[in-house]
Amino acid sequence: MSKLVICDHPLIQHKLTFIRDKNTNTKDFRELVDEVGTLMAYEITRNVKLETVQVETPVQVTESKVVSGRMLGLIPILRAGLGMVDGMLKLIPAAKVGHIGLFRDPQTLQPVEYYINLPTDATNRLLIVIDPMLATGGSAIAAIDSLKKRGCEQIKMMCLIAAPEGVDALQKAHPDVDIYTAALDEKLNDHGYIVPGLGDAGDRMFGTH
Ligand code: URA
Repeated sequence: MSKLVICDHPLIQHKLTFIRDKNTNTKDFRELVDEVGTLMAYEITRNVKLETVQVETPVQVTESKVVSGRMLGLIPILRAGLGMVDGMLKLIPAAKVGHIGLFRDPQTLQPVEYYINLPTDATNRLLIVIDPMLATGGSAIAAIDSLKKRGCEQIKMMCLIAAPEGVDALQKAHPDVDIYTAALDEKLNDHGYIVPGLGDAGDRMFGTH
């Protein structure tokens, strides 16, 4: 079974409180989500492998560490996933960015992929799928299905807030994909919103309704 990592760093939890607050305006919401993206990038890359290199300091040559081999790819699910990308790129600027667009078929209620564009070497990268709200898990599962169909094997999921229902569904569908979230909330309501959540992440980020 995959790991569920709650990123409980005090700065993340502090910022999340203001992200949740319905009185936080679009500009502040966007900035806070960006900042949490940076802080969560720190957590999600904690186990990235290092290799030893030689470096010459002004005093002497020494051995020191650099991130080795495996490169990263960020895969935001459109559109709310976009809000965390720039913040993550501040810490991992060499990461490449792919995009997956999904909509929900009004008849079947199943996610349908309308757009996908991946880095050419995506199969060699550790991919981080980003969607701030892991609600039913439907979009995350479909996005990861799509990546695996294209040969991608190393995948992590990053969100801001997860519902237990979404975590269960994703762990069942993709037991190899670790989930990183800033909070595990109580439940989904009848409209598919996470409770207490933050409302519609895309609308709050882009100022739409
Ligand atoms: N998507 C959102 O933006 N918010 C939720 O609460 C659930 C899904």
